[in-house]
Amino acid sequence: MKTKTDTMHTASTTKTLTTLGFHHITLVSGSAPRTLAFYRDLLGLAVVKDNGKSNDPNAYRLYLGDDAGTPGTLITFVERPAAARGRYGVGGVHHLALGVGTYAAQLKWKRFLTDRGVTVSGPMPRGYFTSLYFRDPDGQVLEIATAGPGYAYDEPIEALGQKVMLPRDQQLPGGRDEALIQMTTHYEPVPAITPDMKLAGIHHVTGMTDDIERASDFYEEALGLSVVKKSVNQDDPETPHWFWANYDGTRVLPHSSWTLFGWTSRHSHARAGVGQTNHVAFRAADVEELKAWQEHLRSMDLDVSAVIDGPPFASINFRAPDGQLLELATDNVEF
Ligand SMILES: [Fe+2]
Ligand SMILES: [Fe+2]
Repeated sequence: MKTKTDTMHTASTTKTLTTLGFHHITLVSGSAPRTLAFYRDLLGLAVVKDNGKSNDPNAYRLYLGDDAGTPGTLITFVERPAAARGRYGVGGVHHLALGVGTYAAQLKWKRFLTDRGVTVSGPMPRGYFTSLYFRDPDGQVLEIATAGPGYAYDEPIEALGQKVMLPRDQQLPGGRDEALIQMTTHYEPVPAITPDMKLAGIHHVTGMTDDIERASDFYEEALGLSVVKKSVNQDDPETPHWFWANYDGTRVLPHSSWTLFGWTSRHSHARAGVGQTNHVAFRAADVEELKAWQEHLRSMDLDVSAVIDGPPFASINFRAPDGQLLELATDNVEF
């Protein structure tokens, strides 16, 4: 196993290649109209591009995000009406968290969604943020997470991720007041999404791996991400839960937190299909930088695709050792 010094060294030699964070996440939809009704009409995301139906049923792509289609806010869908439901597992994504500015706005989301028939759990006190959970119509687990207080909640900002930080009792099953959490909501109906409720793109993405130490080395070396929190899954405290982000010792960039539950090789692998994530894409500046990424990843003996040149952006894809499909995509999007 690498020592911390080796890890620091790795981080510094790849300093010129550190992704700024998420570019987009691609989910598998069973029905594009149903997906639009949920993500556009209910969650209020903007449709950035809808390439419409064509003769090839697998060519359909839908892009949602902020009005400008800014990398870090993008959720894209492939539609697979004939596909079976997938299942999360090792090498797959457990959930996608979207950001909201304040706890008050988060409670408005709880009221807004539950009044419209969506089953919501939370707000869970995670320490680093509070979290609401629900599912999209295909079964993908979603979260709405507050921007703060952030990872410096329980350790100094200049020393994140160096020690295992255990949650406080009131964050854990048995210590949480579940009845109070369930009844906590906004005090009156919310007729429409208010400006403070506007979702701020990808807050974090959480997947599952069967070797968290190996995954940590991989994400540091491959993408230049740094471990910012080593903790446990607060709903299942036997399971490690580690977080990585673009972190330079002074700040953690928003839209860059990739987190993993450390499952074991006894657990099932993810099964692709409706209601699952197809892949997670991180940012590269442009095609020139994408080629440097390609060379860097190939130097790690990874099987990296050729550059797939958009529109709306250029990309390469590759897999993490646990099987997670990853992509690097360019910032200069052309919708
Ligand atoms: Fe989460
Ligand atoms: Fe992609």
